[in-house]
Amino acid sequence: MQALLDALKPGQEDDTLARAIDPQRLPGHIAIIMDGNGRWAKRRGQLRVAGHKAGMRSVRTVIETCAQLGLNALTLYAFSIENWKRPRTEVEMLWRLLRTYMRLELPELMRQNIRLHAIGRLEALPPQVNGDLKEAMAHTSGNTGLQVNLAINYGGRAEIVDAVKALVEESRKRHIEIDETMISAHLYTAGIPDPDLLIRTSGEMRVSNFLLWQIAYAELYVTETLWPDFTRGDLLRAILDYQKRDRRFGGLGANGRPPVDERFSETLGIPAR
Ligand code: IPE
Ligand code: IPE
Ligand code: MG
Repeated sequence: MQALLDALKPGQEDDTLARAIDPQRLPGHIAIIMDGNGRWAKRRGQLRVAGHKAGMRSVRTVIETCAQLGLNALTLYAFSIENWKRPRTEVEMLWRLLRTYMRLELPELMRQNIRLHAIGRLEALPPQVNGDLKEAMAHTSGNTGLQVNLAINYGGRAEIVDAVKALVEESRKRHIEIDETMISAHLYTAGIPDPDLLIRTSGEMRVSNFLLWQIAYAELYVTETLWPDFTRGDLLRAILDYQKRDRRFGGLGANGRPPVDERFSETLGIPAR
């Protein structure tokens, strides 16, 4: 958190926003559905790919800010399994942009002590893209700061299918108890705590097959802002909104309601324990 404050100038709007954030209640893991690149370009009379290119700037800003905030993990939805339905030219351009991004950003990721981890059906990607991802993961594997998960050729249902297949395979060799922990441990995100906050840009109120299992209790934040327009200030505003929420996880939360057994006793007219 201090790293972010150090990077901001006093009096700047982002500085005011950052100072309003409670450092004790930061989300440990933020997930983002980076949507709206095509619409951003269209509004400017440009090709969709210009939107994807502009979106890279937001990726850079968000990664840097999460690292400065000292978060544990950031998961970015970059390409869904369903995105193969798009024109081949757009898909190919996305791979080209991704490869360029990794080549240009690797030194910066190293400098910021960031570990890169790709999640999705990576073996179905063009070999060069898969190769570059593997290389970037190996290169940054010793870093101990923010973990950035890039969801590429990712589908939430496909991930659950892959986990079930792995579990069935394992159960042939030894007895395993299937419970929630066991399923979580076989997802692409094994070992990473679930997202606390899920942000979607461009106003769509849907999850589009993203992290279906992991977002069970994530706080949702949807903004009309299109991804290429998403700034550091927008991220800080999302975190501030998150900090206003009362996360109850099915219980009664921390806002001064009596413990569950007392309230039950009240309504049933029986003395509390
Ligand atoms: C998100 O922007 C990026 C990817 C899905 C790769 P879109 O390309 O979906 O942009 P819109 O939603 O068409 O505006
Ligand atoms: C979700 O956006 C996928 C990514 C951001 C990579 P889409 O644009 O593909 O989602 P839909 O089609 O609007 O649901
Ligand atoms: Mg979209």
